[in-house]
Amino acid sequence: MARITAGVTTSHVPALGAALDNNKLGEPYWARVFAGYDFSKEWIKKNMPDVVLLVYNDHASAFSLDIVPTFGIGCADSFQPADEGWGPRPVPVVKGHAEFAAHLAQSVIQQDFDLTIINKMDVDHGLTVPLSMMFGQPDAWPVRVIPIPVNVVLFPPPSGSRCFALGKALRKAVESFDQDLNVQIWGTGGMSHQLQGTRAGLINSPWDQKFIDRLISEPEELAKVPHLEYVREAGSEGIELVMWLIMRGALSSKVNLVHRFYHVPASNTAIGHLILENQQ
Ligand code: DHB
Ligand code: FE
Repeated sequence: MARITAGVTTSHVPALGAALDNNKLGEPYWARVFAGYDFSKEWIKKNMPDVVLLVYNDHASAFSLDIVPTFGIGCADSFQPADEGWGPRPVPVVKGHAEFAAHLAQSVIQQDFDLTIINKMDVDHGLTVPLSMMFGQPDAWPVRVIPIPVNVVLFPPPSGSRCFALGKALRKAVESFDQDLNVQIWGTGGMSHQLQGTRAGLINSPWDQKFIDRLISEPEELAKVPHLEYVREAGSEGIELVMWLIMRGALSSKVNLVHRFYHVPASNTAIGHLILENQQ
């Protein structure tokens, strides 16, 4: 049977991808950020999954404002890096797992979650930057990836508790697939940041750190936090953090903390990066 072994959270700031793609890792500003992922790159070599369920948000790259699915699942064999205005990132094509994705769609939809089935889609920095942070710059990504896009761009985004419940449904779906697959789930984006308006540049480190504490030890309670608190405390783009609750919902109630990294600044955001191992 397939099983979820670990969860990862990571930032997806596009400037991280640009720093890698333009060989800027030697600059002290970026070196401090990437140092927080040195451990992770070694850890994942020893704990290489077959498939990553990558929960992320599209930033009006694949979906224009014409059609915005609340939750989707990428069922294609492959996904091309999106052109976000200055050409696609020079990263490998993302290989999917169509058979497994179709199974997950069937199981999760029959658990009453209406995922949008996506058979063709380009993937933007929300998905490719997390891959770069964990795997560096390989010729091919070493894992299959099933993209799970979540709307946190156009109001209203899904609630934290809905996201947490989706994580639980995904776990059930994974465990009912009758092939031996080592699966990780990644929740990306965050932490506090606001990119526009009078509060642009907002960072709230005490709130972020508390969010991490609660994500680890009392996620069910954390999932009840309303949108208004995210926006007030973590800024308008801090709402990306609801995606971390999908990851956490897919893990067991008790998890082993393997790695914790928090850093400000990286572009306009606070970076939070966690590795949590599932207690089966
Ligand atoms: C930044 C952060 C994001 O989450 C994003 O999607 C784009 C930019 C930033 O901090 O620059
Ligand atoms: Fe973002």
